[in-house]
Amino acid sequence: MNLRDLRVNGRRLRSTLEEMAKIGATPGGGVQRLTLTDEDKLARDLFVKWLKELDLEIIIDEMGSIFGKRDGKNNDLSHVMSGSHIDSQPKGGRFDGILGVMGALETLRTIHENEVETERPIVIVDWTNEEGSRFAPAMLASGVWTGVLDRDWAYHRTDINGRRFVDELERIGYRGAFPAKEWPVHAYYEYHIEQGPILEREGKTIGAPKGIVCLHWYDVYLEGEANQVGPTPMAGRHDALCAAAEMILKLNQLPAEMGGNMVATVGEIENYPNSRNIIPDKVHFTVDIRSWDDDLSLQAWEKVRKDFEKIAQRRGCPIRIEETWRVEHSPFDQRLVQRVVDTAKELGYPAIQMISGAGHDASYMNQVAPTAMIFVPSIGGRSHVEVENTKWEDCEAGANVLLQCILQSANES
Ligand code: GLV
Ligand code: MN
Ligand code: MN
Repeated sequence: MNLRDLRVNGRRLRSTLEEMAKIGATPGGGVQRLTLTDEDKLARDLFVKWLKELDLEIIIDEMGSIFGKRDGKNNDLSHVMSGSHIDSQPKGGRFDGILGVMGALETLRTIHENEVETERPIVIVDWTNEEGSRFAPAMLASGVWTGVLDRDWAYHRTDINGRRFVDELERIGYRGAFPAKEWPVHAYYEYHIEQGPILEREGKTIGAPKGIVCLHWYDVYLEGEANQVGPTPMAGRHDALCAAAEMILKLNQLPAEMGGNMVATVGEIENYPNSRNIIPDKVHFTVDIRSWDDDLSLQAWEKVRKDFEKIAQRRGCPIRIEETWRVEHSPFDQRLVQRVVDTAKELGYPAIQMISGAGHDASYMNQVAPTAMIFVPSIGGRSHVEVENTKWEDCEAGANVLLQCILQSANES
């Protein structure tokens, strides 16, 4: 058989995704599968069951990432790897991450049932905690695997209830023995929904990101003075929530001041004691700054940090800032990016190059191996929400591009 004629089974991919979407399903049509929760465990168990059906060698590493390895003709050659993440945002969608894992599974099922032998081994991966919404930062396990983040630092990250990553990993039974340490990878492909509006707007089926923007995360802690809201005059208050409100709006104005297609967001806030008749005395909020330009993002942070300090001083609310996480912008391997575009066109799918504004494990993988991604359109450009949606035919198209890219890389000498 000519490998170029091989295609995935779109119906099977759809039913696989629908099966997964039952785990952690939300009433609004999305999923909530926060990392290392019972829902994450159930989805992992199902994924492992499916890997076993393909006779893959299953490896679970010390960060809980799950790898399924299919032998090549020459197992001494470096591997071709593909995957993404099974975890989701709170009230997230049915496609973010899981499409890349189930898409890679579908390509391996197709390769398996057609008894295709490749030169190189092919590995499918589910990276633990890509989202970072339960345990910050995002891309935690791929960060450790690629040697950028320290395993023990990762183990001690805590969620909002003070539970440690390592204890939750142990609890769900996915603390593997295999070292979370990079091995040679010939090519890494990550298949994902776009999560933005560009492909739909341009009428394209496939996006080939040239790379991923930088991601900078900060945590801001403010102290105020609690008091009865009724008898306490407005003058002389130290209201931590008002200080935060001013800061949040300052941050919101920052991209317009800086340019460079920057985006800046406060997405999470905790207010204490959170009673309508007590002046807030403690606030924590997060800051997310992204741009293709690392230096501009650092300059932006310096600027807004000074503004934050001035606001804190004026309002008498001491401020503490943690510089939680920085990932540099990540320009992908141009040869592989071009391969995604060419393959899409060969298969008859309109394609463009673009930039990913979302973070992906591909960002860290790109630091250790030639990397590219395949995007398919998000309906209405909506993602990280329950209504996140992608047409089934586009899911199939992206999986076909993934299959053909994997086959090309896996048969390279
Ligand atoms: C990952 O989902 C991100 O924050 O872009
Ligand atoms: Mn994702
Ligand atoms: Mn996401």
